[in-house]
Amino acid sequence: MAPRIVLLHATADGSTTGIADRIGEVLERAGCTVHGRRLDEGAPADPVELAHADAVVVGSAVHDMAWLPPALAALRDLAALDPPPPLWCFSVGGVQPHGPLTRALAAQEVRRVERGFPAGLRPRDHRLFGGIVRFAGLPLWGRLFYRFVAGGRPGDHRDWAAVEAWAGTVATAPAASPSPGDGPAARPRPGAR
Ligand SMILES: Cc1cc2nc3c(=O)[nH]c(=O)nc-3n(C[C@H](O)[C@H](O)[C@H](O)COP(=O)(O)O)c2cc1C
Repeated sequence: MAPRIVLLHATADGSTTGIADRIGEVLERAGCTVHGRRLDEGAPADPVELAHADAVVVGSAVHDMAWLPPALAALRDLAALDPPPPLWCFSVGGVQPHGPLTRALAAQEVRRVERGFPAGLRPRDHRLFGGIVRFAGLPLWGRLFYRFVAGGRPGDHRDWAAVEAWAGTVATAPAASPSPGDGPAARPRPGAR
């Protein structure tokens, strides 16, 4: 049977939706059955879909070094499953990693973002992609950091080749096989939803 992948994402301005759509296309081309859901429109993750998934991919725009609340809520739903299905995560931020500095910034940002994840829920992989950056609405520190540290400019920084390559690794991973992150350490902590 085709692997069932639940693909969840939360966006504030739309660029994460484009990336989620592209990931879904790659997974479907690879023979997976994909159940996609946008979390920021009020509908939470479907618990039945999650419970029957061979793997779950969750992505979110990054605001202030953290995922958007609907994506974090989906992670709490996953953490409450025993055992949680294999999980892949992607973040969409202002920096598309392409050189040593931006790769180091991306790795640091991924670690910061994961501090907000439920304890014990370990993704098999968590990748940061660049999204569409608009300076309007960005706090001043964010503009300064982005301009002078990351060397970035406003605009569409989505690297479709990187997105497709990553989706390909998800599609070819043995989704249903156990991983170190799926064992007892991944059991829900008390109080997890
Ligand atoms: C209020 C705000 C805060 C942001 N904070 C961060 C951040 O901490 N790190 C980062 O890499 N990008 C940050 N960004 C940039 C967004 O993550 C980026 O524009 C992304 O493409 C947004 O995705 P979306 O279009 O799906 O909402 C921020 C953007 C806004 C508007």
